[in-house]
Amino acid sequence: MKVKKTIVLLPGDGIGPEVTRAAATVLRECAQEFHHEFDLHEFPIGGAAIDEIGTPLPNETLDACKKADAVFLGAVGGAKWDSLPVGKRPESGLLGLRKGMGLYVNVRPVKVLEPLRGISPLKPERLGDLDIEIVRELAGGMYFGERGNTTENGVERAWDTESYSTPEIERIATFAYGRAENRSRRLCSVDKANVLASSQLWRRTVVAMSGVYSAVKLEHMYVDNAAMQLTLKPSQFDVMLTSNMFGDILSDAAAALVGSIGLIPSASFGTGAPLFEPIHGSAPSLVGTDSANPVGSILSAVLMLRDAFGLSLEADWVEQSLHRVLAGGYRTADIAQPGASTIGGSVFTEMLREEMQRTLEHAERYGWGV
Ligand code: NAD
Ligand code: IPM
Ligand code: MN
Repeated sequence: MKVKKTIVLLPGDGIGPEVTRAAATVLRECAQEFHHEFDLHEFPIGGAAIDEIGTPLPNETLDACKKADAVFLGAVGGAKWDSLPVGKRPESGLLGLRKGMGLYVNVRPVKVLEPLRGISPLKPERLGDLDIEIVRELAGGMYFGERGNTTENGVERAWDTESYSTPEIERIATFAYGRAENRSRRLCSVDKANVLASSQLWRRTVVAMSGVYSAVKLEHMYVDNAAMQLTLKPSQFDVMLTSNMFGDILSDAAAALVGSIGLIPSASFGTGAPLFEPIHGSAPSLVGTDSANPVGSILSAVLMLRDAFGLSLEADWVEQSLHRVLAGGYRTADIAQPGASTIGGSVFTEMLREEMQRTLEHAERYGWGV
């Protein structure tokens, strides 16, 4: 079935524009080959928006995102804006966007890609079949709690508050339980309930809901242990449910286990249109070198096709083709074995486009769409 969708692209800063270009290439290919109509509209966010308009989240950008069927974000931030106060930085544009779009769920799937098994920093027997989903709360916690700054008797003090209400915990836990029901029925809720009152409420709330999801085996883990267990035996996890701050940290750590932060996509859901973004940042040192890995961005577009538009055939098309490019040994620098040859991100995207064409031509041989 043909679909017509409005997609807002927010390239942002640093490597954001180049990885967004890769995602847009894939979306355009899908539209062309499957006769969909994807209207792609670019808007400024982050540092680029500060420079152009004077604010990291211009009203026109937020308005367009709210009206879109789906939003794609590259990355924001960079040294140029690092001296700005917290609320005026590029990053606050992204936080304002998540809040303004009512997004409270962020799913970060971290999975070993078979051709990349060898680049994990873990020994194969520890890596196992790592395939987890980190369900990160996105609209609350320390990111959005009360914060401030005072100076008393010449001593400066600053604070940020971690705070969660029962309904905020219930809505993210409902999502995570649902995901667990559809996967291996194991849910690990990660908190710091041995120290934090907000974590105690988190744990009580997640436990209180467990009766409704009796098929799901619920487990709890303190975040410090979870960081260690991820490194020691990551395959013990399936769905991990956690707060905004802990989810941010654990997902970068988990990304390293499968080879690179440049590989990991994410999808955010809430009350309106969904947002898709790779989990990495603007990687300032890579700008201008064409060495940014576009895979996390491309897989974010795959999530958009599958989870926002229900286009699973198209999503499988991109994903299977991507796996074949990787299986062919083509690597950006971050996922290459030491000494091995590498290709640029734009060349990688072009190779993917060609492989997608080959997949169409040899669909049956590749077992796609049959
Ligand atoms: P980062 O994710 O930009 O980079 C961390 C490391 O991973 C660097 O070594 C970088 O070179 C590498 N890396 C990141 N993406 C890569 C890719 N696609 N391919 C290959 N290597 C990649 O995080 P950082 O250095 O802590 O932050 C840089 C800036 O990005 C900061 O301004 C930060 O606030 C911002 N940031 C933005 C987002 C976002 O927009 N979603 C996320 C994280 C950080
Ligand atoms: C991420 C980033 C953001 C976050 C920053 C840039 C606001 O680190 O998406 O992981 O902390 O959520
Ligand atoms: Mn992060």
